[in-house]
Amino acid sequence: MTKDIQTYHIPVLLKPAVDGLDIRPEGTYVDTTLGGGGHTREILSRLGPQGRLLGFDQDEDAERNIPDDPRFTFVRSNFRFLHNFLRYHGISQIDGLLADLGVSSHHFDDSERGFSFRFDGALDMRMNKRAGQTAADIVNTYSEERLANVFYLYGELKNSRKLAAALVKARAAAPINTIGAFLDIVKPFFGREREKKEMARVFQALRIEVNQEMEALKEMLYAATDALRPGGRLAVITYHSLEDRMVKNLIKTGNVEGKMEKDFFGNTQTPFRAVNNKVIVPDDDETARNPRSRSAKLRIAEKL
Ligand SMILES: C[S@@+](CC[C@H](N)C(=O)[O-])C[C@H]1O[C@@H](n2cnc3c(N)ncnc32)[C@H](O)[C@@H]1O
Repeated sequence: MTKDIQTYHIPVLLKPAVDGLDIRPEGTYVDTTLGGGGHTREILSRLGPQGRLLGFDQDEDAERNIPDDPRFTFVRSNFRFLHNFLRYHGISQIDGLLADLGVSSHHFDDSERGFSFRFDGALDMRMNKRAGQTAADIVNTYSEERLANVFYLYGELKNSRKLAAALVKARAAAPINTIGAFLDIVKPFFGREREKKEMARVFQALRIEVNQEMEALKEMLYAATDALRPGGRLAVITYHSLEDRMVKNLIKTGNVEGKMEKDFFGNTQTPFRAVNNKVIVPDDDETARNPRSRSAKLRIAEKL
């Protein structure tokens, strides 16, 4: 399936995120989430001939959006390995890092990837098609309690226990391997009027677990903290509250849990200065043009 870049993914908060990096033309930058390449192209447009940009994506489909530009290096890997790849490419410090988290529109629009309840197909949801557990593996093997926790924590679903119990009961009769089979079990739990919203939360929860998104984000944020030079910028776009809390905590306290550590004088120790105290969200114009941008939140910080 070939798609042009615009339909692959419409970039969210493009200008404020790249403005937030405060780009030095000769600097070294990382875009941890290449996707359709929207932010990457904008960063490249602001770099001079000596500038450098490393772009990560763990999904091989993103490779079709690699810009033909000698200043750009693509890393097909999970961004949790940021530290190792910076070292591999001989980069000891970076001037800025952008993360535009989650999945791209391409993931939702490709019926074969299992991210959307609009299509039937394999219950997969892996961003990296070559590794890790699929959503079907999780639904068919996790204990009832662990499944309930996934729905509760990552989907904020009130009936997470009932959902988990129904899945465990159903899988005893036959494994749940397709989106259709999964929907037959979970749909009856949601009223017609809220069905789409609730299903989106169920799918989001499974996707976060499949891709170990919280763990990857935590590791990447710590590696980024180490790699940024003093004065370097971190810009992160999140799409749900748990991710945003981790980023907010990191900026405020230097750790994702938000544990305040004070120095001898009682001052909170953090390696960052928040550039925007109030989170940046898309304006009405952007959400009208691109409804998928509605939940986006941007935080920018400067390394001290
Ligand atoms: C929201 S899209 C990024 C869109 C991009 N900024 C643009 O303008 O087109 C997120 C992308 O990051 C990738 N991704 C998500 N988590 C990742 C991770 N832990 N490591 C590497 N890539 C990841 C996804 O495969 C997806 O292509």
